[in-house]
Amino acid sequence: MDDEYGGMKWDNLGFGLMKTDYMYTMKCGKDDKFKQGELSRYGNIELSPSAGVLNYGQGLFEGTKAYRREDGGLFLFRPQENAIRMQIGAHRMCMPSPSVHQFVDAVKQTALANRRWIPPPGKGSLYIRPLLIGSGPILGLAPASEYTFLVYASPVGNYFKEGTAPLNLYVEDEFHRAARGGAGGVKSITNYAPVLKALSRAKDRGFSMSCTGFVNKRNIEEVSSCNIFMLKGNVISTPVPNGTILEGVTRKSIMDIARDLGYQVEERCIPIEELVDAEEVFCTGTAVGVAPVGSITYKGNRIEYKMSNEVVSHKLYSRLVGIQRGIIKDNKGWVLKID
Ligand SMILES: Cc1ncc(COP(=O)(O)O)c(C=O)c1O
Repeated sequence: MDDEYGGMKWDNLGFGLMKTDYMYTMKCGKDDKFKQGELSRYGNIELSPSAGVLNYGQGLFEGTKAYRREDGGLFLFRPQENAIRMQIGAHRMCMPSPSVHQFVDAVKQTALANRRWIPPPGKGSLYIRPLLIGSGPILGLAPASEYTFLVYASPVGNYFKEGTAPLNLYVEDEFHRAARGGAGGVKSITNYAPVLKALSRAKDRGFSMSCTGFVNKRNIEEVSSCNIFMLKGNVISTPVPNGTILEGVTRKSIMDIARDLGYQVEERCIPIEELVDAEEVFCTGTAVGVAPVGSITYKGNRIEYKMSNEVVSHKLYSRLVGIQRGIIKDNKGWVLKID
């Protein structure tokens, strides 16, 4: 297995882009279906200056991971969910989308072609980034004439600089991430640049950019690129997706795991004030896993949460990782062996 690692130093792997060997590309016309894609060496792509994605933001992205287990086996976690989310997003953004089979096959091919970049167990994973963009030229506002589905990958370790330490969240009250009827419920590229201002404001106040929370009419909605949960007694609550929240694959998995462990799981509007009474708050996402929140700062007030090794979020995360690593039996068909 050492050969596969090619002398890479995997310790201290963060969440930065590391170029890998191959990417996958598949194209189709406006009223067409995606057919056959192919792998090519990773590199720059050529786009018309009037491509739909560059001018009108007609684009979606996804994020999933390939893992290496102790026995060397390579696995994906619920890639079909990402495929379905891309299809829903494509419908919202007037784009054709790859079938679930095409999506999963492209992710698989990209992971295998870059297998030497999948870190050893416990050191990280290969983050896989599928993109669907309007690549055809268009001048008047309309759907692009051609679409490109592209998949690339980068090995990653911890998303948060703080590692596994509890997160200190800063909740933004001026800039909103998404509005009802907008595209907040899908992974449109247009949702991300507008929040950079809020993230940099949080950074100026001494918080990590990836720890910025968003409220809508005083209800907590999301944290940068993860979903948020609170625990009180035996009840685990998370904001109800009403078109402004991205329904995470990790969110869905953690809700299932929590129910299996006997918790009552609720999706509802959560006024930010309610977090004061929470016993635990935690965030979920492909990049972050399940991250406990140590404090929340909103309108100058700071709420702190007690931390211990016994926290429920840790129990939920252990179960998720156990299934991903093959330590806990996957009786839900969540993991997909790819080699
Ligand atoms: C805005 C937003 N919320 C939540 C998530 C978490 O989703 P997932 O668990 O599928 O990674 C992401 C990341 O994809 C995101 O961008």
